Amino acid sequence: MAQWIEGTVLENSHWTENLFTLKIDADVDMFTAGQFTSLALDIDGERIARPYSFLSSPGKKPIEFFFYTATGGVLSNAMVDLKAGDNIWVKQKANGFFTLNEVPQGKDLWMLGTGTGIAPFFSILNTEEPWNRFENIILVQAVRGECDLRYQELLQSLADQYGSRFHYKAFVSREEIQDTIHGRIPQAIAQGQLESNVGNEFSLERSQIMLCGNPDMVKDTVEALKNRGFSKNRRRTPGQITVENYW
Ligand SMILES: Cc1cc2nc3c(=O)[nH]c(=O)nc-3n(C[C@H](O)[C@H](O)[C@H](O)COP(=O)(O)OP(=O)(O)OC[C@H]3O[C@@H](n4cnc5c(N)ncnc54)[C@H](O)[C@@H]3O)c2cc1C
Ligand SMILES: NC(=O)c1ccc[n+]([C@@H]2O[C@H](COP(=O)([O-])OP(=O)(O)OC[C@H]3O[C@@H](n4cnc5c(N)ncnc54)[C@H](OP(=O)(O)O)[C@@H]3O)[C@@H](O)[C@H]2O)c1
Repeated sequence: MAQWIEGTVLENSHWTENLFTLKIDADVDMFTAGQFTSLALDIDGERIARPYSFLSSPGKKPIEFFFYTATGGVLSNAMVDLKAGDNIWVKQKANGFFTLNEVPQGKDLWMLGTGTGIAPFFSILNTEEPWNRFENIILVQAVRGECDLRYQELLQSLADQYGSRFHYKAFVSREEIQDTIHGRIPQAIAQGQLESNVGNEFSLERSQIMLCGNPDMVKDTVEALKNRGFSKNRRRTPGQITVENYW
């Protein structure tokens, strides 16, 4: 059983009514970019724990998490009230296989996420490995509203560092916002709109595709990609699609 360690909240940024970033000082074990740990609070005498992907990269301090409050959600709504200096339980050892070790070689790495599902991608993108292994990286984030699009400075710093090798595209589904795609990822793949917008095509030989976040988006996108001949990546039968479902 992995140990719980006590972390100290350094900062809790309230981006919107239900979107937050939590920075925590905690002595966690080294992890691999893309993995998650568990966060927990003792609520009414019970330890309530849930998995959260690291947004920060391995070895970076403080550790950082990006979260939504789920409607009626027990832990996420309690985390909202945390202030600098408060304690939070953190699992010392990280878990998960949504890492580049599990992704076969390719030329283009597509990272498609909904909402806070962008977190593990930031953790990976701020390490050297994806840039050593792939020629082009396309990061796609799908959200309901423009107010959900955060971490613009981080995106700018990746663009500054990697130039045309890095491409970012946002989908905003419930508002019409300039320079974003209005709609959903699977439909935009089926209709060719994502590729034409990014200026790069999905290819069985070149593309590796990582999907993270809303399980309905993951399921529908896998379907859209299967229709194009892509398959899930398994250890015995490598394919092109690697997934992480948030619920
Ligand atoms: C591997 C993994 C990594 C995760 N990383 C993150 C992360 O980095 N950021 C993050 O915000 N969440 C993340 N989650 C989801 C997180 O673990 C919790 O489920 C979420 O915060 C809700 O917990 P809760 O106790 O507030 O709600 P609960 O009382 O557990 O759940 C309420 C309901 O809300 C829905 N739900 C759960 N999570 C979400 C979500 N993120 N968005 C929308 N609806 C949801 C589900 O239908 C669930 O039954 C991750 C989940 C997994 C499995
Ligand atoms: N964001 C908010 O304003 C808000 C407000 C209150 C509560 N919450 C809660 O916060 C949590 C996370 O919010 P969220 O904004 O990330 O919600 P979300 O429902 O995961 O939406 C994120 C993006 O995924 C899209 N999506 C949903 N189903 C899809 C599918 N099958 N295929 C492809 N794309 C799909 C959504 O498009 P569509 O818009 O077309 O569905 C949206 O663009 C939820 O629990 C929600 O109840 C959010």
